[in-house]
Amino acid sequence: MSGPNPLYDEPELAAAYARVSATNAANAAYERPAVRALLGEVCGLDVLDAGCAAGEHSAWLADHGARVVALDASEAMVRLARERLGEQVRVLHADLAQPLPLDDASADLVLSSLTLHYLEDWCAPLREFARVLRPGGRLVLSTHHPLMTAGDVDDYHAVRLVEETWHGFGAPVLVTYYHRPLQRIVADMLAAGFVLRGMHEPQPTADADARDPKLAARFRTEPGFLIVDAETARR
Ligand SMILES: C[S@@+](CC[C@H](N)C(=O)[O-])C[C@H]1O[C@@H](n2cnc3c(N)ncnc32)[C@H](O)[C@@H]1O
Repeated sequence: MSGPNPLYDEPELAAAYARVSATNAANAAYERPAVRALLGEVCGLDVLDAGCAAGEHSAWLADHGARVVALDASEAMVRLARERLGEQVRVLHADLAQPLPLDDASADLVLSSLTLHYLEDWCAPLREFARVLRPGGRLVLSTHHPLMTAGDVDDYHAVRLVEETWHGFGAPVLVTYYHRPLQRIVADMLAAGFVLRGMHEPQPTADADARDPKLAARFRTEPGFLIVDAETARR
């Protein structure tokens, strides 16, 4: 369901992603700490983790007192997340390109971490997030920074498919995702009914320097990911 991304759909690759991303620089020491610092206090919140992979963010949210529903389109990831999270979190096998199997106004926070760039059309899931959020509910999403993907496309201003071979997860694997220009990111979020709270271009942590000095040095001067913080109107 998640498209041509064997990394997530094939059980061995999904397991390799889960294992490597639990401790690597880009996820464990860059994106996740930045997202969590931004989230702040989550205790008592109803949270949707949309694109949960093996459940790293879900586990942190549940450990910090949130009631979490997680979803992912990859059966292999859903299996890993269920094994990891047990009864703590309800993990759904669901595709963000489809209407979400969740009630209107049932969440205080939607977190979608490094997932929406896999969808060419992200407007439908953004509208679904607005629907499932309560009035004044918050959406925090992280995605590839358009600066990082701009060099791989022929037109910065268009939504474009990017093909990249990843080498850090066992055998080399071709991964595809979409470049989205910054203006489009903002316009689509506003059109889906969100009010922007902020946009963040995180700095790598000291841990990232220790884990992958080359990558950390690059991300220190060229942002790898963009984190968007938004909320629905307070009706
Ligand atoms: C980079 S991983 C997410 C990382 C995760 N948030 C973490 O911190 O470990 C991207 C995830 O998005 C999922 N995904 C891709 N397309 C999706 C879709 N259309 N609907 C739901 N999940 C999708 C993939 O299966 C994969 O698990």
